[in-house]
Amino acid sequence: MTQFNPNESPLLSLTRKYVPEGIRQTLSSDPIIPAIAAKAKRIVPENPEFVRSDQGQIIGVFPDKEIYYGPSSGLEELRELVGQFWTFAYNLKGKPGIPSQGLDYKNVAIVSGATEGLSIVMHLVASGQNVGLMPLYWSNYKGIIRNAGGNPVVIEVFNQDYDVDFDQIKRTILEKKITSILINFPNNPSGDVLTEKELNKLAALAEETDLIIIADEVYNFVRYKGTPQSMLGFAPERTVVVSSASKEYLIPGARVGYVIAAEKTFTNDWMPKVIRSFSSSPNVLGQQLLISLLKGEVEDFKNGRQPQLITEIKKELKARCELMLSVLREKGFSLACRDTDFPSGAISVLVRLPDDIKVDDTDFIHKAIELKKFSAVPGSVFGAPRCIRFGYAGMTQETIKRFAQNLQDVLDHLRS
Ligand SMILES: Cc1ncc(COP(=O)(O)O)c(C=O)c1O
Repeated sequence: MTQFNPNESPLLSLTRKYVPEGIRQTLSSDPIIPAIAAKAKRIVPENPEFVRSDQGQIIGVFPDKEIYYGPSSGLEELRELVGQFWTFAYNLKGKPGIPSQGLDYKNVAIVSGATEGLSIVMHLVASGQNVGLMPLYWSNYKGIIRNAGGNPVVIEVFNQDYDVDFDQIKRTILEKKITSILINFPNNPSGDVLTEKELNKLAALAEETDLIIIADEVYNFVRYKGTPQSMLGFAPERTVVVSSASKEYLIPGARVGYVIAAEKTFTNDWMPKVIRSFSSSPNVLGQQLLISLLKGEVEDFKNGRQPQLITEIKKELKARCELMLSVLREKGFSLACRDTDFPSGAISVLVRLPDDIKVDDTDFIHKAIELKKFSAVPGSVFGAPRCIRFGYAGMTQETIKRFAQNLQDVLDHLRS
């Protein structure tokens, strides 16, 4: 039987409602080994005679090369740093529904990249449910939702003028019995963001229709305009943020992501219990690397400065974006995003094929590859037909200059 606590947040009560029985048992169990390990860890510094025989790792053979298991919810120091970074970067302190001191380690669970974070969150909320996807959407979302037993439903968010059509969103939520929505801003592939007013309206709509909001914020600090916002600042009681260091700190191979919620039971209790049966624990080396990067970034925030590392990364990304866009415009492509002047953020540009190119986006990319000129991703993959997503993060400014000629060669071939 589901136990409803009238004082708990919608995030907890809704998750209790949708979580499948098997996972419900995991959430209500108290795994014995971590409990023993936690007690043993506390005793060791007090009592040097104490002997630990609870651990499942081999030690003392190559002592300088050993990497131990970390806690399922991640290293506490990293969790604390991520909580602080999020609090400063998105100005969360003092916002309704956010703990008065801002987010701390209990609001954060470390996962093996945002992909695992999304996957686990979907296992908690999506089984047997319709999950709304707001286009454009990262191509992996549908698989992540289906693997968790959910059904992805695409909601048309924008009208022809690229304004958010809240009536249309509400209609679809009610008609399709959608119980959670997965949003991604700044968006992959378009870089689009929602305005503060729209985020407020979305939060109100989520309350009216009792939705869980899963906010994929992996590009959140890579903004070229305006102040970065997190959905946590708008609907903290029903939002789970999933993000990672993959994009913003250029370490996708380290596989360090985070799940963040204002509701600590979700991140500090439920997440580690489920992580144990997904990956046991996130990559310790990756976490140590990120600790070394985030320490300075959080220190900068504390001293009233913008975080140095990410600011430098953003500056270079913007220069690449400008160069890429000028090349594409010169060749007859036009931006296919809300702001037709310059993308709002993220690490790719989505552009429309020139009108006189008669092949579709998928054939265009196949031709570019067949001619051995370049690769990019057809917009159809994200729900944007006749568009192409050019990622510029993996190209230096030199490469972008070389790409200009290769693109011209493909266009000439298709026009001949
Ligand atoms: C929108 C979006 N979310 C999540 C991810 C996955 O990130 P991670 O490397 O942290 O798993 C990507 C990667 O391309 C992405 O574009």
